[in-house]
Amino acid sequence: MIEGELVRLRALERSDLPAVVRWMNDPEVTRYLLSAPRYGLEEMEQWYSERRGTDDRTLAILNEGGELIGYCGISRLEWEERRCNLWLIIGEKDAWGRGYGTDAVRTMLRYLFDEVNLNRVYLTVDEENHRAMGLYERCGFRREGVHRSARFKNGRYRNDVTMAVLKREWGQ
Ligand SMILES: CC(C)(COP(=O)(O)OP(=O)(O)OC[C@H]1O[C@@H](n2cnc3c(N)ncnc32)[C@H](O)[C@@H]1OP(=O)(O)O)[C@@H](O)C(=O)NCCC(=O)NCCS
Repeated sequence: MIEGELVRLRALERSDLPAVVRWMNDPEVTRYLLSAPRYGLEEMEQWYSERRGTDDRTLAILNEGGELIGYCGISRLEWEERRCNLWLIIGEKDAWGRGYGTDAVRTMLRYLFDEVNLNRVYLTVDEENHRAMGLYERCGFRREGVHRSARFKNGRYRNDVTMAVLKREWGQ
């Protein structure tokens, strides 16, 4: 269990997957996602099992009342380079705009930099996902580059933005 100011993070459990399926079938939640985990419960259970055998970590995000409101995680952990990719989804829409996403990212960064001793945490975000980009900037991420027409989604090409935060910048 990792404690933030508003949220608590714990390992995602199999019993959390029905909520994840609900979120991943909500077009408002998945609108800007680069890729969404597979859609049905069976497929989600397969996704969950596949991640368990890797360095990828998936964490449930709980609010102050202990309710599951989203999930987040890391992937592509590279020990030699001390870097990883981070992602975040607040699936409960009535929890948006209350600071939970910001606190979840700050809490993850504190853990990844201070406990795991990583040097670089990076991510890729849809250029039109302004709310997410603002959140990441608030947490110390800087824009590094634009991948033009990187993906074809919902009938058109979209640009992706890569962002990263370094340990030495963290907490400044
Ligand atoms: C994008 C997403 C992660 C944002 O999460 P969130 O919990 O709503 O974000 P926050 O509440 O921390 O910040 C959003 C807004 O709330 C405001 N806010 C309200 N209370 C706040 C508090 N106590 N602390 C910080 N911000 C607060 C912020 O100022 C911010 O305003 P802004 O969007 O105008 O900049 C969430 O909407 C989501 O998961 N969307 C669907 C999936 C997705 O797009 N994920 C990101 C993929 S890269």
